[in-house]
Order: sequence, then structure tokens, then C-alpha cells
Amino acid sequence: MKKVKVGIVGLGRLGRKHAENLAFRIPHCELTAVCSVVEEEVQEVMDEWNIPYGYTKYEDMLANQDLDAIFIASPSNFHCEQIKQALSLGFHVFSEKPLGLYVEEALDVERAVKAHPNQVFMLGFMRRYDRSYMAAKEKIEAGVIGEPFLIRCYGLDPASKMDSFLKFARANYSGGLFLDMSIHDFDLARWYLGAEAKEVWAIGGSYARPEFDEIEDAETGAAMVRFEKNAIGIFVAGRNCAHGYHIETEIIGTKGTLRIGTVPERNQVVIMKDEGVIQECVDGFLERFEQAYLSEAEEFINCILENRKPAITVEDGVQSTILGYSCKKSYETGQLIKVNA
Ligand code: NAI
Repeated sequence: MKKVKVGIVGLGRLGRKHAENLAFRIPHCELTAVCSVVEEEVQEVMDEWNIPYGYTKYEDMLANQDLDAIFIASPSNFHCEQIKQALSLGFHVFSEKPLGLYVEEALDVERAVKAHPNQVFMLGFMRRYDRSYMAAKEKIEAGVIGEPFLIRCYGLDPASKMDSFLKFARANYSGGLFLDMSIHDFDLARWYLGAEAKEVWAIGGSYARPEFDEIEDAETGAAMVRFEKNAIGIFVAGRNCAHGYHIETEIIGTKGTLRIGTVPERNQVVIMKDEGVIQECVDGFLERFEQAYLSEAEEFINCILENRKPAITVEDGVQSTILGYSCKKSYETGQLIKVNA
């Protein structure tokens, strides 16, 4: 069978994991080119993994006619332009979330994707490929909890990463707490509830670290969202989780409840000693979603080979961005905001 030849842009925290999956763990995929503005990153990956092409300029990688597909794991402010460039040159494109940092950028990408209907475009909402989240979706579709009407999501980053986030955020615009942290939760809410958001009220602040006030962002925040069919969404996002990386989701239906990740344990080991009974916590997204990152990349490659489209659409990216911006607006103004208005 033909192999899909992929070039990846971005070799940072997540890009390197994607690159490793594409290079070694997907049978009909070949990681043919890597690109990063940091030359040492490019050289290191080329040498260690025997990758034939390396670039420090994205445009140079796009000129490589050997490639079939481009995988984008660069910082969020580059996604919109890089997606559009790759699509216009005929490549299949996978992009990390978000589509862009502004609603206009997301809509711009949507137009570009629609203008290239014969190319595969996939957005990195990897939780939809996580085994537990997939099992929850199957239970909902089988009617196990009746009609789902409430979703409660926690998206909490470890306190140990707060200093590096503050350093990043002083120099870069991240989109703010809700757009950066809750976008996967917004996507899950739409997916599980089968409904779009109508209005939102978001609050938050700085509790442990006043520096968040200086960058005009919330350290921890909560948004309450009314969805179509009068369904309810409660989203808690934060960057100061003392025990580690805590991603938890609860879906309440008319006949029952599902919970995913209630205890964010690293493994099944329970330590019992003088400090008490302890379960260690996962420390970040790479550990918690290792399987999902591989499964989403497999799906992207399979879609190309089988000439079909992934279930996640560009509209999913647009709607989640719109909801994220509405939360940001509500947080900043203190007002109840109509989503889409
Ligand atoms: P990072 O800062 O660790 O890495 C960024 C990489 O892009 C570096 O290799 C850097 O040298 C390279 N780069 C920067 N500007 C470039 C340019 N103009 N052209 C080519 N390369 C360039 O970032 P991280 O944490 O890996 O995040 C990357 C993206 O992935 C972000 O958009 C982020 O939102 C998303 N992300 C998604 C997650 C998920 O769970 N789906 C989790 C973490 C990040």
C-alpha cells in the first residue's frame, strides 16, 4: 500500500510527540520532512530519526513536491496562515487546535477548507479519540443515561507549570484562559449534548498569583453556558492545580450520569504510608492523552488513504472558537453574553 508522506511544522512540546508518532507508530505513514524556526531542533530530529528533509522556513517545506500532507504543531498564531498556505498548494492538512486566535481567523480557515473539498482537513480535538471519551459517547448514543442535559468540565493545568506559562503569556497572546484551556471542553459539550451554545456568563480572577491581573487574564475561571434545548454547561478552567493535570468531565442525563477522569490517577498503584493513602496524578497532556494523540494521527492518515473525511469538521473548530470568545467577552465585561450575537 502507498505510504502517505508527511511534513510537520513545529517540534516543541506537542510537535515532537506528533513527529515521533508519525515517524514510528503509523504503518502507512512516512515522516519525510520536519520544520521549525529552531535549527537545532530540526537537526536533532533529522539525525536521530533519519528524516530526509529539514527546514527552518515553512515556505521551503511547502515547496517539497514529495509531500502529500502537512501536520501543523506550531504556535497558535501561525495556524490560520499555515493552514491556508498548505491547502492552497494541494496538501492534506492536520492542524493542532485552535484554528486561529480570533473568530475572524477561524472563519477564514473555514472558507479555505470549503474551497478545497477534495483535500482532507482535520483539527486536533484529540479527546474525541481518547478511549474513555469515546466509550462515553457510545453510552450516550445507546441511551444509557437517557437524554443528556448537563455537562460539567474541569480543565486544570498543574501549578508546577504556572511560571513557564506566565513567561510565555507575557511575550505571546494565548487567547486567554477560556479559549486556550477550555476549547476541548467546549467541543466535548457540543459533541455530547448535540446542541450549540446560546448564552454565557463567565467569571474568574487571580487567586494564588496576582501576575495574572498584570497580563489581564484569569488564573482560574468558571463559565456557565446555556445550550440549545435548555441544556446546561459548567466549565471550570485553571492554571493552579496543586495535585497535577486534572481533566474531568461529567455528563448528566435524564436516566443517569457518566463521569470521566474523576480521579486523574497516573496508574493503578495506591501508595499507603505515614502520609496517608496516595494515588499519583498525571502531570500533563502528553501523559494523559498519549493514546489519543496517536489515534487521531492514525485517523488523519487513514482518511487520506481511504479518501474520506474525519468526523471532526472545521465547523467544530469555528463553533468552539466562537464560544471561547464569548466566554472571554463575558469575563471581561461581567455581562451575560449571547453566543454568536
Ligand atoms: P511549543 O512552543 O512547545 O512549540 C512550538 C514549535 O513551533 C517549536 O518547535 C518552535 O520552534 C516552532 N515554531 C515557532 N514558530 C514557528 C514558525 N513560524 N515556523 C515554524 N516553526 C515555528 O508549543 P506547543 O506547546 O508544542 O504547542 C503547539 C500548538 O499545539 C499550539 O497551537 C497549542 O495550542 C497546541 N497544543 C495542543 C494541545 C492539545 O491537547 N491538543 C496541547 C498542547 C498544545
